[in-house]
Amino acid sequence: MRSLFASRTRNMPAPVAPGEVLAEARNLTVRLDSRPVLSEVGVTARAGEVLALVGPNGAGKSTLLAALAADRAPDEGSVTIAGRPAAAWSAAELALRRAVLPQDASLSFPFPVEDVVRMGRAPWAGTEREDEDDEAVAAAMASTEVTDFAGRAFSGLSGGERARVALARVLAQRTSLLLLDEPTAALDLRHQELVLGVCRRRAEAGDAVVVVLHDLGLAAAYADRVAVLRDGRVVADGAPGVVFTDASLTEVYRQPVEVLPHPRTGALLVFPRRE
Ligand SMILES: Nc1ncnc2c1ncn2[C@@H]1O[C@H](COP(=O)(O)OP(=O)(O)O)[C@@H](O)[C@H]1O
Ligand SMILES: [Mg+2]
Repeated sequence: MRSLFASRTRNMPAPVAPGEVLAEARNLTVRLDSRPVLSEVGVTARAGEVLALVGPNGAGKSTLLAALAADRAPDEGSVTIAGRPAAAWSAAELALRRAVLPQDASLSFPFPVEDVVRMGRAPWAGTEREDEDDEAVAAAMASTEVTDFAGRAFSGLSGGERARVALARVLAQRTSLLLLDEPTAALDLRHQELVLGVCRRRAEAGDAVVVVLHDLGLAAAYADRVAVLRDGRVVADGAPGVVFTDASLTEVYRQPVEVLPHPRTGALLVFPRRE
């Protein structure tokens, strides 16, 4: 691996200050098949924060996440990552600065689980931080509870188990910016909490986490800020307690929704209204 890279100091990421903007979309418009799927979107991912992207199917959440990852170019507007235009970074430089869990992480690697997680370390090969590889892999596997599968074939795991391994690979990359598209979609209740707990801890350690979620209760419990998308636009952006109201969610989801305080903790609970 080392021979692929020039030196152990190759354009390493600068230390990140609390609150620093690590990714930002401004006036972002993306068209697919000449149809706008994002229109004049602005969102900001800051060090120390969990930002949840929510909204109905087809609202543009995955497209926005891909744009923030520099995996999709803007048609209009701009995306910056770590203070530079997304397109100004090389793939190798990006891989040291942001890690992406795609929505469809249905990669069918015939490799052992630990090897899949270790792939997350490839960007650091030949740098001073390759010394962290073993610890990063072990910690990522422990935090997603996949250590027991270490030697099993990735392709032989259940959907939820594979989703946790795919997340472990992204966590092992140890970038300051984490972009996660529906990391909890296939997970049981325990592991949904576990994964959002990992997101919170990464934010508390100073990273920026952007996470697409469908479970609004999870978003309310774990996100510092929520951006609500509908039809390619951000229709609300703020603290969950401000953004999540019966009226706003009912309108965005075209479904009666009620937001209630938890009887013991006061935390926001979000339910479809059923008569
Ligand atoms: N490659 C593509 N070509 C054309 N349209 C696409 C493509 N990918 C997604 N879309 C459309 O863009 C819209 C937004 O998709 P997406 O960002 O995946 O939404 P979400 O993640 O919120 O469900 C949808 O209407 C979807 O059908
Ligand atoms: Mg999506």
